Amino acid sequence: MKYMNKFSMSGKTVFITGGVGLLGTEITKAFSEAKANVVILDIDKSKGQKLTLDLKKIGGDVEFEEFDITDLKNIDKNIDKLCSKYGRIDVWINAAYPRTRDWSDKLEDLKLESWQKNVDAHLNSYSWISRKVCLIMKDQKGGSLINFGSIYGVVGNNFAVYEGTTMTSPMAYAAIKGGIINLSRYLASYFGKFNVRVNTVCPGGIFDNQNEVFVKNYSKNTPLNRMGTPEEIASATLFLASDAASYITGITLMVDGGWTAI
Ligand SMILES: NC(=O)c1ccc[n+]([C@@H]2O[C@H](COP(=O)([O-])OP(=O)(O)OC[C@H]3O[C@@H](n4cnc5c(N)ncnc54)[C@H](O)[C@@H]3O)[C@@H](O)[C@H]2O)c1
Repeated sequence: MKYMNKFSMSGKTVFITGGVGLLGTEITKAFSEAKANVVILDIDKSKGQKLTLDLKKIGGDVEFEEFDITDLKNIDKNIDKLCSKYGRIDVWINAAYPRTRDWSDKLEDLKLESWQKNVDAHLNSYSWISRKVCLIMKDQKGGSLINFGSIYGVVGNNFAVYEGTTMTSPMAYAAIKGGIINLSRYLASYFGKFNVRVNTVCPGGIFDNQNEVFVKNYSKNTPLNRMGTPEEIASATLFLASDAASYITGITLMVDGGWTAI
């Protein structure tokens, strides 16, 4: 057994929605380094083209496609087009993070229209994309789909970490991420016999120069006593997508420094 070969992505075509976000950028870099043919799917064209160029310069096989995950009516058609252009979908990672401008409003100020828009843009897009990708993977007789959840799709929020800041976490996030986690389990069960694996990666809080008080409060409540890094999320995602995880499906991989362990 050549164990390290199992972690290689050589010859695999990997699609990453939100591929130029905080986490997506690092995930893109990780899969590129692992020798995958990476296709970044994002609405941010300038960032997408820049990252593609940067990675090509160091030998990466990376392409960018402008792709809006919320264009639900055209999802099937758009994914079919990608599939014919790039040949097959070995791995698909849903790491886009669509949200409305008023996403961070307090629960007291929440508008029904905003709630509905966010559920549609995030939960419904992940769901509709996942359904189509799994159907294609079934025809290909294999594939690995990874959806991005969150600790807040698994446990309720500890609002004490926001004390002394204006920060909060939206009610819709709990519903959306909880939905995505069980969506992955459903699809894992439905498509398992076709060698299609479906899993969820649940990051904890990732350090992104947040308010110092928040970072301190958050870290105090985490067994590893700190926030996570995009690199730590990318390596866990790489493992789960690779053949090293060939007997893993339907799981919720917590990459949270132990937040949900206590
Ligand atoms: N950063 C964290 O602390 C954290 C924690 C837990 C879970 N997550 C989850 O990880 C995933 C990635 O989060 P992030 O922090 O990298 O977010 P981010 O906001 O940094 O990046 C999101 C990316 O999605 C893209 N995007 C937005 N709307 C889109 C659309 N309609 N179609 C295509 N692309 C679109 C953006 O252009 C951006 O590149 C999300 O599912 C998020 O919920 C993040």
